[in-house]
Amino acid sequence: MDRTSLLAALSLSALVAGAPAAMAQGAGKPDLARAKQIAETVCAACHGADGNSATAVNPNIAGQGAEYISRQLQHFKAGIRVNPIMQGMAAPLTDAEVVALGIYFAQQKGKPLAAKDPTLVATAQTLYRAGDAASGLPACSACHSPNGAGIPRNYPRLSGQHADYTLAQLKAFRAGERGNDKDGKDVQGRVMAAVAQRMTDAQMKALADYAAGLR
Ligand code: HEC
Ligand code: HEC
Repeated sequence: MDRTSLLAALSLSALVAGAPAAMAQGAGKPDLARAKQIAETVCAACHGADGNSATAVNPNIAGQGAEYISRQLQHFKAGIRVNPIMQGMAAPLTDAEVVALGIYFAQQKGKPLAAKDPTLVATAQTLYRAGDAASGLPACSACHSPNGAGIPRNYPRLSGQHADYTLAQLKAFRAGERGNDKDGKDVQGRVMAAVAQRMTDAQMKALADYAAGLR
């Protein structure tokens, strides 16, 4: 995919973006009290009850987009996104709980993080804002927004995310372990997998550290 077709893929994802919203409506009023209960009794062990995880392998989900969270839970349930721990966690959730959990965690306040390696900031900032013409890497800001907050529905927040988790996901996308389901249902994942193909290890490392501290 060249840069233009990557950006054209954006409008493709916009087309499927209506699905979770329609699901939320079909499920009636989201039961946020139920979501809070699940969050405090189940998710808290790894993500924190308010979605702020103390451990870098477990992503922060506080303040992440509601539809994005729900989509990931559905993908874990369906085996479209593969992770033994999260597939087990998502399996018993009903569609209504998946929607409510997305809204609940989106409403929690994320704790800001800072970039740890000052020597990587200049390189990362250029890549984040302008991409890399030599490899056809598009600017991250085009899809994840200039301040890393993401764009609701399709594009997740990167700011405030543990760098180790972000780096692991970039590698998983590049290796075809995420965004590469055999039925091609993961439209958004495919877009990000195409982006990750164009990234070197050094660029991934710099961007993961930098994106954590964006605000
Ligand atoms: C035993 C630890 C554990 C528990 C309990 C757990 N998770 Fe997770 N969760 C993880 C790990 C580890 C990942 C990262 C998976 C990966 O690398 O793909 C993750 C990923 C996620 C993601 C994807 C985040 C992203 O940015 O893409 C969501 C959403 C999520 N979990 C929600 C939940 C919810 C909701 C619950 C409670 C029902 C829960 N998790 C319970 C460990 C856990
Ligand atoms: C053309 C749009 C687009 C561009 C450009 C883009 N991304 Fe993404 N990115 C996405 C989409 C869509 C997803 C959500 C995939 C999904 O739903 O599984 C995503 C997901 C991610 C994730 C996973 C987040 C999580 O919580 O698991 C990371 C990390 C990421 N992108 C980093 C980057 C970086 C760094 C750049 C710049 C090199 C970048 N992205 C450029 C569209 C884009």
